[in-house]
Amino acid sequence: MCGIVGCILKENKNVGSILFNCISKLEYRGYDSVGLATYDNDIAVKKAKGDIEKVNGKLNFNNMEGNLGIAHTRWASTGNPTDENAHPHLDETKSVAIVHNGTLENYAIIKEELIENGYCFKSTTDSEVIVNLIRKYMNEGLNLEGALRKTTENLKGSYAIVAFTKDEPDKIIATKKDSPLIVAYGDEGYFVASDMPAVLDYARNIIRPQEGEIAVLTKNGIEIHDENGHEVKRKFRYIGWTPEMAQKEGYDYFMIKEINEQSAAVKNTLGQKENIQKVINEIGKVNRICFVACGTSYHASITGKYLIESLAGIPTDVVIASEARYSAKTWDKDTLVIFISQSGETYDSLMVLKEAKKTSKTLAIVNVASSAMSEDAQYVIQTQAGPEIGVAATKTYVAQLTAIYLFSGLIAGNNKLIDELYEVPAYIDEAVGKSDSIKALSKRYDFADDAFYLGRGFSYPTALEGALKLKEITYIHAEGYAAGELKHGPLALIDEKIPVIVIIPPGDDFNKTMINLEEVKARGAIVLSIGAEGDEKIAENSGEFIEMNPNIKDIIAPLVYIVPLQLLSYYVTLDRGYNPDKPKNLAKVITV
Ligand code: G6P
Repeated sequence: MCGIVGCILKENKNVGSILFNCISKLEYRGYDSVGLATYDNDIAVKKAKGDIEKVNGKLNFNNMEGNLGIAHTRWASTGNPTDENAHPHLDETKSVAIVHNGTLENYAIIKEELIENGYCFKSTTDSEVIVNLIRKYMNEGLNLEGALRKTTENLKGSYAIVAFTKDEPDKIIATKKDSPLIVAYGDEGYFVASDMPAVLDYARNIIRPQEGEIAVLTKNGIEIHDENGHEVKRKFRYIGWTPEMAQKEGYDYFMIKEINEQSAAVKNTLGQKENIQKVINEIGKVNRICFVACGTSYHASITGKYLIESLAGIPTDVVIASEARYSAKTWDKDTLVIFISQSGETYDSLMVLKEAKKTSKTLAIVNVASSAMSEDAQYVIQTQAGPEIGVAATKTYVAQLTAIYLFSGLIAGNNKLIDELYEVPAYIDEAVGKSDSIKALSKRYDFADDAFYLGRGFSYPTALEGALKLKEITYIHAEGYAAGELKHGPLALIDEKIPVIVIIPPGDDFNKTMINLEEVKARGAIVLSIGAEGDEKIAENSGEFIEMNPNIKDIIAPLVYIVPLQLLSYYVTLDRGYNPDKPKNLAKVITV
């Protein structure tokens, strides 16, 4: 995934500290290595393996001077996380510097050809071919912009690239294909980055260059050039997110801050009710709905299927974006394809969106206003969670659910459900209030190697999401299961060493789930249940019982019952000595 930044300041100063501040804000995109290249009469580069703070402690980016530079934080895809593979990459003459986010499918062939022509490689990344190609075309007489354009004609795959050269030291340039890139300006100067949070401290007026365009940043401004090098005039958009929204504000980690912000995320997303009604009116009649999403957003989508089918009777499918190409062929003009994504940049989802637009109506439910998905989809609903930095999605999940509940309630004309949604922020605050008791409880689970999460009906996606939260940040193997499916396999694994977390809110399915709870208890499992406060049957049959407000019935439970599961994962992670904001091998925005 990787995060990239470039900037050119109006006045010559300590560009290193500004770039370091910007790239630190993109750490959620990867933290295998970090590096900066700056220009002050010559190109200076500092880069190394390790996370941003650690590398800065060693190399001190803050004292890199000049008025322009580029920076990179890496999530390793091609080439191991090593010092040599860290970006920026320079050509052999040390006159061109680039950073790249994305993956190049044909880099091996290009590399071979370049080596035959005498170009040298120091890394095993795909990205290094870019800098050598640019140098090659500049050697053939092109300027930097021409050389970058010619370079991209050779590349197959996805990329966002920022480059500068000491041969034209008054500019940095950037381009993209299927990887995110924004360009922004503020009082200090002009910026380019993978994502908005990187630049919020300095620049809030942004645009998103389109495929084939090149952004040219100089001390005097930003120009966007089309494929033929002609300037295209674009309107910059002012972004309301403040830098403070992307700070920890006294919390130890972003994840716990974001868990605490969940009632606000729901409240603010409920404020979208009128917009959602407007979108529904514009969409008109549909015969079929299909959700497309990945990760946590996929779990929100399953809840969407259950809601829409049970409330509105519209046949609804859910497809994992990377699998969609195997089932997407039957969509037609009366199908609404709904893309759920916190980032709005997930590569697999964007690729399906491109296809879906050819046959069907498309709606994106996204958290990031200026994201590629929100610009590409025909209709957009923006969730109001604010910036989410922790890699494990929390507040964006409940915000997605809120938008889905509103959407489903409105198309079904179910005012009772919609009214109930306004109780949810208070239920969430009550659940977050159990933080201390869940922290105490977590000590009993931090030893586990495996865990199962069981839920039925509306609680099934909650089981999947609870298990995902545990595995992604604690590294404990966890599986979410439909409670009724237990006897078809996993029951064979249950014994007295396995925690089983049972999600059992009051409602029609309660008795059936209770049978499953008793089944695992009979096999000696360590049972932790989440259900209605005061329920004696749950208390009798469970080792531990997290008691929730009894007014929360099964249909609304997904919005609230996830909270204790997020808190449990958070505290188990701390008990095991890991950083919940930065799980190993993962990144927040998956643009490959
Ligand atoms: C990554 C993130 C997850 C997220 C998933 C889908 O794996 O770590 O938290 O659920 O991508 O991302 P999206 O932005 O499309 O919701």
